[in-house]
Amino acid sequence: MNAAIRAVTRIAHAKNLQVIGFERGWEGLIQNNFQHLTPRSVGGIIQLGGTMLHTARCPEFKTEEGLKKAAKTLNSHKVDGLVVIGGDGSFKGALDLSKHCNTLMAGIPATIDNDVYGTDETIGFDTAVNTAVAEIDKIRDTAISHERIFIVEVMGRQRGFLALIVGITVGAEIILVPENQCNLDNVVTVLKENALKGKKAGIVVAAEGCGRVSEVEKAIEEQTGSEVRLTILGYVQRGGSPTARSRLLASLFAEKAIDVLCKAEGHKVVGLRNGEVSSIDLEQSCNGYKPIEPKLLKLADMLAT
Ligand code: F6P
Repeated sequence: MNAAIRAVTRIAHAKNLQVIGFERGWEGLIQNNFQHLTPRSVGGIIQLGGTMLHTARCPEFKTEEGLKKAAKTLNSHKVDGLVVIGGDGSFKGALDLSKHCNTLMAGIPATIDNDVYGTDETIGFDTAVNTAVAEIDKIRDTAISHERIFIVEVMGRQRGFLALIVGITVGAEIILVPENQCNLDNVVTVLKENALKGKKAGIVVAAEGCGRVSEVEKAIEEQTGSEVRLTILGYVQRGGSPTARSRLLASLFAEKAIDVLCKAEGHKVVGLRNGEVSSIDLEQSCNGYKPIEPKLLKLADMLAT
């Protein structure tokens, strides 16, 4: 997000546009908390995780009253375009707000869940994938040396994009995603077959949204006789220095966001589609559902043999 704030500020500056940054997202709009952003004030942040503007959950923004206050703030500053950096929840908020003001909205998808409709990738996803992979590679050493099964829970309360890509790239034996029902018998069968093939160590990558990791742990231990350990990676995945890819994506998305705002073709969400930076209507993004790729699930299965 910092890389996106920096890029939005500097690209806007190059086009003689003024930028203010609202603090703590929607809360800043409701309370009129903001700072003027200049090319200098966003210096030295491209390599930092998180957001220099801070972020917060804002229940008030979900009310009519809150939306009106936010719209009033936008009007008082004569804001022509609002760049919203976040996930689908933020974009739904932007869509609601757009109905109360004349400000144009441009969404920049930034979430480690990678679940925004209209983009193949979100800012931060690559960083989170690399963080999880680095940790699981270390766990694999113990798994192999001790011939144990490890269940590693990665983030993804609703969606399994992170678990899927992490699972494929760490060579997980099993990947569990919230989109598919977790079949305990199947998990046990695969691990038993692996043991018969001489593969005694194993990594099960489970998305947080599967919600049954301790049940899975118990079933594997009881039915395979293997030693099982559970690791929950947690919030390490949401921070840290962004990868070069996440920084580049943030910069490209920022450029596109300024471009769509200047062209004034309606409220948009920018994204990456088949390698091209593009945009779709905000409403379409909010109403769309990004499916998990069945091809990738199949690939993961073939690679785990
Ligand atoms: O950033 C997305 C996400 O990591 C989800 O996968 C997860 O469910 C959620 O954030 C947890 O965030 P919080 O604990 O702040 O609600």
